[in-house]
Amino acid sequence: MGTVSVVGAGYVGMVSAACLAERGHDVTVADKNTARIRLLGEGKVPFYEPGLDDLLERSRSRISFTVSTRNAVERSDLTFVSVSTPSRKDGAIDLSQIRSSVREIGRALRSKSQVKHLIVVRSTVVPGTTWHVIRPILERASGLRVGEGLSLAMQPEFLSQGNAIEDMLHPDRIVIGECDNEAGDRLETFYKEFHAGNAPPILRMNSTSAEVVKYAANAFLAMKVSFVNEIAGICERLEGVDVVRVAEAVGLDSRIGGRFLKAGVGFGGSCLPKDIRALDARAEELRFRSFLLPAILRVNDRQKRRVVQLARRLLGSLKGKRVALLGLSFKPDTDDMRGAPSVEIIGHLRRAGAKVVVYDPAAMQNARGLLGGKVSYAASLRECLRAADVCIVVTEWDEFKALSRDVLISEMNRPVLVDGRRMYDPEDFAGVAYAAIGLGPMSGMTCHIPCKERSIRQFTSRA
Ligand code: UGA
Repeated sequence: MGTVSVVGAGYVGMVSAACLAERGHDVTVADKNTARIRLLGEGKVPFYEPGLDDLLERSRSRISFTVSTRNAVERSDLTFVSVSTPSRKDGAIDLSQIRSSVREIGRALRSKSQVKHLIVVRSTVVPGTTWHVIRPILERASGLRVGEGLSLAMQPEFLSQGNAIEDMLHPDRIVIGECDNEAGDRLETFYKEFHAGNAPPILRMNSTSAEVVKYAANAFLAMKVSFVNEIAGICERLEGVDVVRVAEAVGLDSRIGGRFLKAGVGFGGSCLPKDIRALDARAEELRFRSFLLPAILRVNDRQKRRVVQLARRLLGSLKGKRVALLGLSFKPDTDDMRGAPSVEIIGHLRRAGAKVVVYDPAAMQNARGLLGGKVSYAASLRECLRAADVCIVVTEWDEFKALSRDVLISEMNRPVLVDGRRMYDPEDFAGVAYAAIGLGPMSGMTCHIPCKERSIRQFTSRA
């Protein structure tokens, strides 16, 4: 197994490094952030990703950390670049980190031995960037030409937070966007070895197509979420109709598929919202006006207001009311607050005059940094609920599944529940004022079709 380097010790870089080491590679990870490199050197992971601590611990002897990109490049013949490409104010992406990393890699290559170095871009960059921006920087800094003295490829990542290790070890597909043929050949061989005879489909194309694949995949996922949320809005106005049942039936159509059809407070995170804005900005640059991309974001913004409207529907004015907000991270199994719907929901609640108490199993520390004194922080689920006028579930953590009508009744000022993630069966909350995204009014509705299914009975039982 060869030595590889990873530039950028963020979430993608660290998951990749840990998995590469697990499969027997010696890995050098480089990052400019000295505090982060120090922490990692001490065996601590600066963010929460299930299984990552253990994986890094197991492969500790095969991973080293450095603040010097040059060192990392000198020690390897293959470099993965996974520095972040954050959003600028206008929605386009900020390429400054990737530009400077690639420049450093190029300079390091000037003094390196004869072996042709392969550089693989893993950062998400808009279509055209690897060929038109990264390649020229690399060639200028190294004095080498892609395809002659060095190789370059773009390989989009499809890691989903909370499930990233599984996604890296068992991906649905590997997309190789090659700038030179040898880059594609080498990367294909590399992944065939990595997956030891069990490789997923490997698709080879040019680097710009690979960049489009990344954005198209994320835009499609976001579109599915906004689509089901749009349908949810319609369901909420129809007696006895529940978007969960509708989505289940729609998703069983194999042309559609059931995943990413969970209605709720909307999508967040560091990828989906940012990538849609970036693709839209790139489309505009290319003089193509997208109708769909802005619509996906508009639906998503509305969801965060919808959940507050549901609380109002149950409580009336929120002025002076105590709101227990459960879940802060943008999804469960992560402490990541980037783009988290909770932040905007809290903003809407505060503007409505509510006092907000929050609880999250993992994201409390990150939330404090972001929200400061705007909310109160509870140490547990029960503490959060105590004396609250309404409970709003924003992230579907497993811990919240245990929420019962008895707990709500005993802890809250009045038992009022807004299910922003469709975690609960309304039938389990008799005696609790309950509203949920995508759930139409339940009284007065009878089911005309004899049906033994529990979820359909739920409408008849209250009729
Ligand atoms: C997303 C993609 O799923 C990954 O494939 C991609 O590699 C990654 O972005 C990236 O570009 O790096 P991630 O941001 O970790 O991954 O999160 P998702 O699992 O996609 O969830 C995004 C948001 O959509 C979350 O807030 C989640 O709660 C929401 N969501 C998801 C729904 O509201 N409903 C659903 O049915 C699914």
